[in-house]
Amino acid sequence: MTQSMSIAPHRRRLLCAAFLASLLAAGCGDDSRRAGPVTPEPPVSPQPPDDSELIAQGQEVFRFDTFGDETQWTDTLRMHEVIAAAVDPITALSVGLKVDAEALPAEVVAGIQDGSISLTSTDTTIALLKLDAVVGVRGTVENINGKDTLTRVGITCALCHSTVDDSFAPGIGKRLDGWPNRDLNPGAIIALSPALTAEQKAVYNSWGPGKYDPRFNFDHLNGPQVIPPAYGLAGIHSVTSTGDGEDLAYWNRYVGVTQMGGHGSFTEPRTGVSVVNGNDDLISAVLPALQAYQLSIPAPPPPDGSFDVAAAARGEALFMGVARCSTCHSGPEFTDANTRLHSPDEVASEPEPDGVPSYASRSATKMYRTAPLKGLWQHPPYFHNGTAATLEDVVLAYNTKHALGLGAGEMADLVQYLKSL
Ligand code: HEC
Ligand code: HEC
Repeated sequence: MTQSMSIAPHRRRLLCAAFLASLLAAGCGDDSRRAGPVTPEPPVSPQPPDDSELIAQGQEVFRFDTFGDETQWTDTLRMHEVIAAAVDPITALSVGLKVDAEALPAEVVAGIQDGSISLTSTDTTIALLKLDAVVGVRGTVENINGKDTLTRVGITCALCHSTVDDSFAPGIGKRLDGWPNRDLNPGAIIALSPALTAEQKAVYNSWGPGKYDPRFNFDHLNGPQVIPPAYGLAGIHSVTSTGDGEDLAYWNRYVGVTQMGGHGSFTEPRTGVSVVNGNDDLISAVLPALQAYQLSIPAPPPPDGSFDVAAAARGEALFMGVARCSTCHSGPEFTDANTRLHSPDEVASEPEPDGVPSYASRSATKMYRTAPLKGLWQHPPYFHNGTAATLEDVVLAYNTKHALGLGAGEMADLVQYLKSL
């Protein structure tokens, strides 16, 4: 199966069989999404290019491109066997996997609603994979001896950085790209692999929902990171909580190659990480589109009525004044990331829990980037390590560590302001 990027629209499912029976029995045809040619891309730019075609391509990549990482998830980790043996839809939803309701034909929706499609059968999971309905997971389903069989599986960026709006049922709804999937338990999923040792499984199982350690496979330290949003990043020339890269493409390449297992290469002299997967490169050509798409996703505004307007106005004055927040959280994105990074002793989120070494010390910069704050309401817990469960906890941490001397009412006002961003 070739893994080159394709620009074919995501319409294949409309051509698929009308009934689930035929979905299970007959193929949906070849993966036409992958048939398109790779066109040369313009140089990576840190600003969103005004190019809707590039952005549309990037959406396809973000949602559906595995960069050939089936090599890791199928050949090495054997997740296709795990899914076929043990991951029925109920199990999949319980580890935070999401189902794209818009990928489901009406007959499947009806079958789920009237119970004729079993959510406790792994055959249903395979049917959903065949429909490309499991967010961030791509399966190749082949008819073997008359039975639909999952032969290859890989993951995409959407696994961790998309969720759904639950409009159909909990875990089933419309895609919300860029929203971190804080229900997803990547460690618990990886730990199902029969290829891992008991010690490795214990580490993966310790992470919990919404967290992933993107450096564990290199330094073997167990310091999982909160999965951050991939929205609201336009104009910020410093990427990840430690500002390791100057543009999204830097980190997209890091994750695509060194974590997802996509084909291509990543080299970083500052950490000594150097990885080459495969003897082809399935990621470089799609990075400009992938970056353009992410930069096009705005942070979601706070829901109506979700904060107290008068208290937020008082909180803004504190933020800009005595609480000194705006000395670092400055400018339209509430970050000074384009001009400087901060040492670990300046942040309110250290020391790390459980005696783990500073996350900064494991990074390329050894520093922290001031986090942008738009859309904060959407993604608790806070800080790189998730040590603040709520915005109240964030403000309390600053009040203590920065000795701000704010009273309870002032802290509450500051929280309302943070909820309004
Ligand atoms: C297994 C889960 C997982 C997958 C898959 C994944 N990421 Fe991430 N992503 C993370 C985590 C965890 C971080 C935080 C890393 C850090 O701050 O050091 C992160 C960080 C990021 C950031 C930095 C956000 C910021 O505020 O600077 C972006 C952008 C991003 N990922 C995009 C992507 C893209 C695009 C892909 C696909 C190529 C991808 N991620 C795949 C878990 C994942
Ligand atoms: C010295 C610079 C500095 C000051 C002053 C500062 N911050 Fe921060 N802030 C940071 C850095 C750096 C991070 C990222 C820390 C991390 O990821 O662990 C951060 C993270 C945050 C986060 C978490 C964002 C997320 O996505 O998880 C919030 C909320 C926040 N700050 C609010 C505030 C408020 C409110 C104040 C004032 C009371 C303040 N900050 C003062 C530098 C600063």
